[in-house]
Amino acid sequence: MILPTPSPIRCPVCSEPLMLQDNMIACQNGHPFNIAREGYANLLLSHQRKAKQPGDDPEMVMARRRFFDSGAFDVLTEAVTELPTIGNDDNAVLDCGCGEGHLLGTLSEKYRGFFCGIDISKKAIQVASKRWKNAAWFVANGMRNIPVATNSMDSILSILAPRNNDEFHRILKPDGVLIIGVPGFNHLIELRKQLQFSSGDFKEKADTAAEKCAPLFEEANRIAVSGKVALNREQITDLIRMTPIFWRSSDAAKAAVMQLSSLTVTVSFTLLRMTKK
Ligand SMILES: C[S@@+](CC[C@H](N)C(=O)[O-])C[C@H]1O[C@@H](n2cnc3c(N)ncnc32)[C@H](O)[C@@H]1O
Ligand SMILES: [Zn+2]
Repeated sequence: MILPTPSPIRCPVCSEPLMLQDNMIACQNGHPFNIAREGYANLLLSHQRKAKQPGDDPEMVMARRRFFDSGAFDVLTEAVTELPTIGNDDNAVLDCGCGEGHLLGTLSEKYRGFFCGIDISKKAIQVASKRWKNAAWFVANGMRNIPVATNSMDSILSILAPRNNDEFHRILKPDGVLIIGVPGFNHLIELRKQLQFSSGDFKEKADTAAEKCAPLFEEANRIAVSGKVALNREQITDLIRMTPIFWRSSDAAKAAVMQLSSLTVTVSFTLLRMTKK
């Protein structure tokens, strides 16, 4: 576990800074949190956990891990790692809803700085922390009181994940940048057609995200990222496993798609760069 001094990570019980102490992190009021074998800490208090296993389940997490590892979302990884503000050395970056950690992990290998990933899924944080050692990983709820100090982060990433804009505004430094990633124009349109979904173009997702932020954030710019990827059968199966919206299509349509030996799909994302008002 890597934590800078002073620590920007806050105790979920009393909000005092959490600092490293032997094989745990603790605040000055003596609230301790173990550091697991993989290197992460679980800051989710039991009364904050509605489901027994909140967030993405282990099967979804591992499907996402394989899918990223296959290179199918490389356009997204490259776009995020090339963002002008995010890679400045010595910046502090929070990835809220980081999943299995591919985006933040890649950033943490490329740049110096403090990289902190939180996700409510324990399995996601376990596999993230096992692989990427240059970042700090926490199981925490990104929709409630995020255990990160006020005015402490230079950038926040929220990529395909739920958002708490009030909390993002509190955590960002005055000149910090919030980066929101949503599905873009015609994202996975070919797969959606095969699974008999209406072929909407997702344009409204970026507009809706910007509107929801508008009371607190100003849109600096939008970056459209897209490419065509030829998926093999394993990749198609993983993509369906990791994307809950596809589970709603009929079993017959899913079975037919999983029989395809390949399918070329459009991958498309919109990255919104928002600054504090
Ligand atoms: C679609 S995945 C995206 C993961 C990652 N950002 C990526 O691009 O690969 C959404 C993630 O949000 C997490 N999540 C859902 N609700 C959350 C919450 N309340 N707090 C933190 N993470 C949450 C899920 O566990 C899942 O890992
Ligand atoms: Zn405490």
